[in-house]
Amino acid sequence: MPIVGFGTWKLRGHQAYSGCYQALKAGYRHFDTATMYGNEAEVGQALRDSGIDRSELFVTTKIRPSDVGRERAVLTSSLRLLGTDYVDLWLVHWPPRRDEASRQMWAELLRLKADGLARDVGVSNYSLGDIDDLIEDSGTAPAVNQVHWNPRRFDADVLAGHRERGIELEGYSPLKDTKLDNRVLVDIASAHDVTPAQVVLRWHIEHDITVIPKSSQPDRIWANIDLFGFSLTQQEVNRIDEMGDA
Ligand SMILES: NC(=O)c1ccc[n+]([C@@H]2O[C@H](COP(=O)([O-])OP(=O)(O)OC[C@H]3O[C@@H](n4cnc5c(N)ncnc54)[C@H](OP(=O)(O)O)[C@@H]3O)[C@@H](O)[C@H]2O)c1
Repeated sequence: MPIVGFGTWKLRGHQAYSGCYQALKAGYRHFDTATMYGNEAEVGQALRDSGIDRSELFVTTKIRPSDVGRERAVLTSSLRLLGTDYVDLWLVHWPPRRDEASRQMWAELLRLKADGLARDVGVSNYSLGDIDDLIEDSGTAPAVNQVHWNPRRFDADVLAGHRERGIELEGYSPLKDTKLDNRVLVDIASAHDVTPAQVVLRWHIEHDITVIPKSSQPDRIWANIDLFGFSLTQQEVNRIDEMGDA
């Protein structure tokens, strides 16, 4: 899974198509969508129009928990809209309210993975307790848990808990709830001649956490993946981690 992906929530219609097309030009190869976003067709069209080989792309989509019992039909529909034979990662968007439904859905995801429709399967917005329940029931841990993550939400114990279980923690909404005029971020950004948003995204990379920023604006789409010409010192990473305690 490429460590930087393009988030597509709230991009609809032509904006979803042109955002993804621009992202492909900027070098993104990882795309994050969901049935709920209503943009799988536009995302898929942009991926196909780019001419980039499917094997070079990493596509994630998600199923709503209310679709328990309809997993195969939902994934088949996502694949048709995306115009692909498989997704690289298929996630349960958030935990079904009943434990029994959660276990049932997870078992079905594993079955569809075995059938080759998803290269890997995981969850989103699950607590470690929710995940342990799935592991206990099925014997298989989700490959990924996609969760809300940003400097203010940094939690070393949550990160360690995922790593102990061999689960990749993927962060969503890295920028939306971050005060980009925060003194710590502004100071670090000026030391590297980058923007505070780039510092936040690079901070994910320093922690080896996959990050999926969304933008509808071409200059931001490009800037949000222009993260490999600088790195943060351990001291800078620690200062940003400490924003989680504030
Ligand atoms: N699993 C889940 O439950 C879940 C929940 C939420 C999100 N997600 C996924 O995670 C992706 C990212 O999260 P998100 O879309 O909620 O939030 P985000 O990526 O943190 O932030 C997007 C917002 O920040 C702005 N922005 C983007 N780049 C910027 C920059 N360089 N400087 C300043 N502002 C910038 C965007 O505005 P412009 O468009 O105007 O640039 C947009 O308003 C989603 O698109 C979705 O794929 C998953």
